[in-house]
Amino acid sequence: MNVKPDFSKNANLAQTAPAFLSVWDMHAYYGESYIVQGISFNVHEGEILALLGRNGAGKTSTLRSIARLGDPQLRHGEIWLDHQPLHKMASHQAAAVGLGLVPEDRRIIAGLTVEENIKLAQIAPPVGWSIDRIYELFPRLGERRGQEGVTLSGGEQQMLAIARALARDIKVLLLDEPYEGLAPVIVDEIEKTLMHIKEQGMTTVIVEQNAVRALELADRAVILDTGGIVFDGSAAEVLENEELRSEYLAI
Ligand SMILES: Nc1ncnc2c1ncn2[C@@H]1O[C@H](COP(=O)(O)OP(=O)(O)O)[C@@H](O)[C@H]1O
Ligand SMILES: [Mg+2]
Repeated sequence: MNVKPDFSKNANLAQTAPAFLSVWDMHAYYGESYIVQGISFNVHEGEILALLGRNGAGKTSTLRSIARLGDPQLRHGEIWLDHQPLHKMASHQAAAVGLGLVPEDRRIIAGLTVEENIKLAQIAPPVGWSIDRIYELFPRLGERRGQEGVTLSGGEQQMLAIARALARDIKVLLLDEPYEGLAPVIVDEIEKTLMHIKEQGMTTVIVEQNAVRALELADRAVILDTGGIVFDGSAAEVLENEELRSEYLAI
């Protein structure tokens, strides 16, 4: 894809007051491949936003752009997190001001126990949730605190990945397909913890192929298609909209 970006398209959004997390007219490239094609959306403090769309729609690229990972390269647009300009930062700076990305592959560190994986996340201040508070939320991690992280089940590894994000003092939690490959009963368990995390005031963006489960959890939804936004509204609206569901989500 090498379409020329139209930066004027979203210009009218420029001067609206930024939300807690504001993505404005974001354009990003892998080399010369133009993938994130002018994405704008807001996430309000304390809400759960579901970021949905078919395989290859650009969901992971959008999360990676927000986290400033460098690949894809952000070439235009602004990203604000609680008045901090993420678009001017490198990934470690974005992390330091409260961006918490849990990537699809979970990145559990081999050779370290569950507890060491969590403690490593707390090495640099500001520290977020305490170990005790994390074990209260995820009792299974407490039971397995001395076990090597990579030997956990898929669901437990997902819990550990979320725990590591919370162990830092984050303002927003970005989850890339947290339910992938997990049995429905484990999805139930993770869903419950995400609700609990929300009740504690966390702001969350969840990317999921399991759109129905994500929509049941989320307050609002943004749907992507070929690197652009085709829907921005309430999660309930998507669940009720047959056309939207079949065209963009295949559900
Ligand atoms: N590292 C990469 N280099 C080049 N193109 C990529 C890379 N990663 C993803 N893409 C392309 O970007 C598009 C969006 O991918 P992605 O963001 O992973 O979609 P999703 O997460 O919605 O499935 C796809 O067409 C994909 O082929
Ligand atoms: Mg993806």
